[in-house]
Amino acid sequence: MLARRFLSSASSPLAPTIRQLLLSPPPPPAACVAVNGWVKSIRRQKKVAFAVISDGSSDAGLQAVFTDINLAKNLTNGASVRLQGTLADSPGAGQEKELKVSEVEVLGECDPERYPMQKQALTVEYLRDHCHLRARTREIGAMLRLRDSTTRAIHGYFEDNGFIHVHTPIITSNDCEGAGETFRIAPSSSDASTSDAKPSEYFNHPAYLTVSSQLHLEAVASAISRVYTLSPCFRAERSQTSRHLAEFWMLEAEWAFTSSLTELCDVVEHAIRHVLRTHAASPDMDALWKQHPPATSEAKRAELQSYADAPQPWTRLTYTDAVDVLAAHHAQTPGGAFVFPPAWGSSLQSEHERWLADTYVRGPVFVTDYPAVLKPFYMRLNDSDGGGKERQTVACFDLLVPGMGELVGGSLREERTGLLEAALERHGLDKADYAWYLDLRRYGGAPHGGFGLGFERLISWMSGIESVRECIAMPRWAGRMLL
Ligand code: 4AD
Repeated sequence: MLARRFLSSASSPLAPTIRQLLLSPPPPPAACVAVNGWVKSIRRQKKVAFAVISDGSSDAGLQAVFTDINLAKNLTNGASVRLQGTLADSPGAGQEKELKVSEVEVLGECDPERYPMQKQALTVEYLRDHCHLRARTREIGAMLRLRDSTTRAIHGYFEDNGFIHVHTPIITSNDCEGAGETFRIAPSSSDASTSDAKPSEYFNHPAYLTVSSQLHLEAVASAISRVYTLSPCFRAERSQTSRHLAEFWMLEAEWAFTSSLTELCDVVEHAIRHVLRTHAASPDMDALWKQHPPATSEAKRAELQSYADAPQPWTRLTYTDAVDVLAAHHAQTPGGAFVFPPAWGSSLQSEHERWLADTYVRGPVFVTDYPAVLKPFYMRLNDSDGGGKERQTVACFDLLVPGMGELVGGSLREERTGLLEAALERHGLDKADYAWYLDLRRYGGAPHGGFGLGFERLISWMSGIESVRECIAMPRWAGRMLL
């Protein structure tokens, strides 16, 4: 028997994915291709059957054509299959190639009566309840690939700019943000040497899941100069909003030898512009935007493109100026524009952030120099502007974006040991717990700063997915953790 010629790549032990097959140059006519995937749809006619097969590698599935309809008789939606056949140019609209099937193997059956992922539109709530199956939907599949390509774009940006990617700990002894939103951890009670009654014994110290890698990044930046990480963070917040998760991923960068808030904002802006440009022509972004009415989707894409290509730097506004414009707008609007009247010294509420980005600036805006009382202990105190202690500000920023509000937060870090000790005291923190952090200043401390960007918020903003709960494979929030 003649050995069959299978299409394979000499450089990989793996068979090509459907995406690779669709992108690769036409194979020799006689080359036999093996395709693994799941049946997305099946259409049977008298003499021919068609099935769309997806392996999740791209938004587009591969159309399989069965001229022997017996071959397709055991196929059902959701079944996993291995098909063999030859690839050919497709005469149909919407796809370039199709597979003329000569052999079918059903690897895993799927009962069409009981399959929870039926073809009709499934609600967001239904999919949240079936999050172990929802990666099979077009939207979640596209989102997962978008997360992947965004991660690669981020790594590209930081590599090009001399940053080193580091892995920071998940278990930590500190609450970086001091907001009391930590998850405390303890060994499970099945461990005979410990008990729930004494959760801190394992480390001889209370232990938490990290809320931010910043303090650890600062330690590494004190030697490696420019570092960043993309890591999971955990916050025991009760917020039930479309922007909050209990477990989310944060891009954090930290670099030494900067004393410039402008430089921090510039790096954030350049990194995000780079990501937006990289995704301008992404088919997964297309698939996600296509969920919206065409006019909305076109307008949104053009809007993102305009932020990526804006000739001027994105707007920068001090907190004090922001409060002034918010207060003026509130006063001029009959009955007041906001639920929370804007006032210097109060946090900006999400309604304020949204108005600044959506209406006042109509684009991304950095709000800088917030009051020290609103911010964590580590932010660098600005030189007094004569307003007295109550008006003291710190060298920090939040980046607000339209339709979302806060996407990034960052600051210069207090590198002056005396001022840092005073800040710890003001925040009621024990100096002994931060001895190592003070050492970073005592021994060759350099001016430095950095930022943190919420990865799911970035995905939501770019893709138009309404909630961050649909921007991660398995979301966790207060009251919900299914698997
Ligand atoms: O503003 P945050 O709290 O800043 C920090 O944690 C700093 N230590 C970061 C740093 O400077 N290295 O959080 C940064 C970003 C927010 O702007 C937001 O995008 C995201 O993290 N974020 C959340 N995203 C989803 N769910 C939550 N619960 C989030 N909390 C913050």
